[in-house]
Amino acid sequence: MKSVKILAIETSCDETAAAISKNNQILSSVVTSQIETHKGYGGVVPELAARMHIEAIIPVIDKALRDAKTNWDEIDAIAVTQGPGLLGSLLIGVNTAKSLAYLKKKPIIAINHIEGHIYANFIREIPNSKFQIPKFPLIALVVSGGHTSLIYMKDHLTYKVVGQTIDDAAGEAFDKVAKVLGLGYPGGPIISKLAEKGNEKAFDFPRIDLTPPPQRDDRGYLVQPTPSLNFSFSGLKTAVINEVRKLSISDKRSATQLRPSDSAGRVSDKLKADVCASFQKAVIDVLIRNSATAIKMYKPKSFLLSGGVAANLELKKQLKGYLAKEKVKFCVPEPALCTDNAAMIAVAGYWHYLKRDFTVADALEADPNIKL
Ligand code: KG4
Ligand code: ZN
Repeated sequence: MKSVKILAIETSCDETAAAISKNNQILSSVVTSQIETHKGYGGVVPELAARMHIEAIIPVIDKALRDAKTNWDEIDAIAVTQGPGLLGSLLIGVNTAKSLAYLKKKPIIAINHIEGHIYANFIREIPNSKFQIPKFPLIALVVSGGHTSLIYMKDHLTYKVVGQTIDDAAGEAFDKVAKVLGLGYPGGPIISKLAEKGNEKAFDFPRIDLTPPPQRDDRGYLVQPTPSLNFSFSGLKTAVINEVRKLSISDKRSATQLRPSDSAGRVSDKLKADVCASFQKAVIDVLIRNSATAIKMYKPKSFLLSGGVAANLELKKQLKGYLAKEKVKFCVPEPALCTDNAAMIAVAGYWHYLKRDFTVADALEADPNIKL
């Protein structure tokens, strides 16, 4: 079969990205990040994000085509992130994809952003000769600023979400804790760096387990419930915020009068590092605990980690050690493919293309809450 070239567009949050794939290899991947703009606000401002996508989208697509040394005649389909994400941001990518599909007469493939993160693990990086395609059945853990999900896949493009967060996403917790410590945005990379210098046992933060307690059956015997694979990080976040406030209360003002940045200002660098290390350990413990339970329940051949939090070195190290013991193949993309990008959307698009899984451009709409 002739090779398949896909042009992909990703604008679900604060990265404007386009990429060109040839089968499961990447010919070009362009990402322009808006982080510098949003930093000043301590998080993504949706209206600003949408406006910046409008400015960046066409130059980013042009650059992706140029970098791949390809032209529109060679493109077989356009893949685009339909959701989940910020509505205003998604609309720019989806409407651009629709216009280009009409103009250039190309089929369009709608991709779920979480599916894209999973498929980052199916990208064959050309210089990496060690690459082995992940084996099914598999469990994927997608941990990002917007999602924390455990997904079981028997085969390509079949997804069973077996666990997900009931409140904050893991990356969101990193971002909020960084904010209360006055460390800046995005929090994940800063916290993980500081954590290297801290004591992870300094604070005993909660590791919430959503498994219900054992119940008595009709005959009075205790019945163990099926363990829950869901996550909850909001209690952990609150515990950290309260601890930071307590640490700063040597000041005359009461805790309620302090703004987050005031509290952080009076916590020593050593204590901040200890808070970061203890917080990060609590997040990793919970992620590994639920992953281990999912592995026992579903007996996968491969375990795929992805999403922005997958760039966390300590998480990768600990998961790798655990999976080696369990003899489950561990896959994680290089850091640039963990955070948002369009290469992952292109390669997810390739597997949809093989199934001729196209979307009628007229009917395609951005969906900020779309389920996997
Ligand atoms: O996948 P992504 O780029 O965007 C979403 O789809 O959300 O993930 C961004 C998230 C942010 O919350 C950021 O703090 C987190 O990934 N992150 C990290 C690290 N690098 C990025 N979290 C923990 N450790 C890191 N090294
Ligand atoms: Zn993402």
